[in-house]
Amino acid sequence: MSLHRLRAMHASGEKIAMLTCYDASFARLLDDAGVDVLLVGDSLGMVLQGHASTVPVSLDEMAYHTQCVARANRFAWIIGDLPFGSYHASLDQAVRSAVRLMQSGAHMVKLEGGGWTAEIVRALVERGIPVCAHLGLTPQSVHALGGYRVQGRDEAAAETLRTHARELADAGATMLVLELMPSALASEVTKALPIPVIGIGAGAGCSGQVLVLHDMLGITQGKLPRFVRNFIGDAAAAGGGIPAAVRRYVAAVKDGSFPVESIHTY
Ligand code: KIV
Repeated sequence: MSLHRLRAMHASGEKIAMLTCYDASFARLLDDAGVDVLLVGDSLGMVLQGHASTVPVSLDEMAYHTQCVARANRFAWIIGDLPFGSYHASLDQAVRSAVRLMQSGAHMVKLEGGGWTAEIVRALVERGIPVCAHLGLTPQSVHALGGYRVQGRDEAAAETLRTHARELADAGATMLVLELMPSALASEVTKALPIPVIGIGAGAGCSGQVLVLHDMLGITQGKLPRFVRNFIGDAAAAGGGIPAAVRRYVAAVKDGSFPVESIHTY
């Protein structure tokens, strides 16, 4: 996988299948199952470490997990998440943090938020670091947002989101994640931008989909958001295990049967 291939997939309308991944065993399994992009997400703070949010995750921890994933991966594109506090202080800090993740094996870094992040995106891209932006529900700002709520519901919030998306693409972001927002808004942003837009709880109109691995494998306990589909149930019923569940996810993203507008979207 390369940026060139991801752009070609986007241009031809082929959906991009992304999953979070935090270790070498799953990296090999997901890569073998045909997942296009492995996101070493800071969701690992909640999924692996048991924190209530992603806020406590450190750059050292992200570098460690990125190295674990990169060692086992063969073909997939790897995105390393810049954690909270690793790009907030200055451009210099952002560049140093991004370099750390790239040297740990990431092919691209991801950062959250719009407006103030555009100049960071520009600085990283000018230095040869591909960037994935992230708008909508940005979990690192959960305390400022007042919880894990659907974003962009009213017209003013939707307009801010459209503006931020355009600014980030203009600054050189080569991918955008949209999280937890009305499907119609995500579709509109996807059509308006020249870069692939990957949705999570953002409807079927995006250029691809991402889910947290432990959610789609039915490992996460408690009530899950409605955009999650448990792929292990179907796979197990057909006599398959985790590799089969991941292959089903990839197939469902590619053929557009996941997400279902009436079930998984807002
Ligand atoms: O950290 C993460 O897993 C993410 C996804 C939810 C997109 O940012």
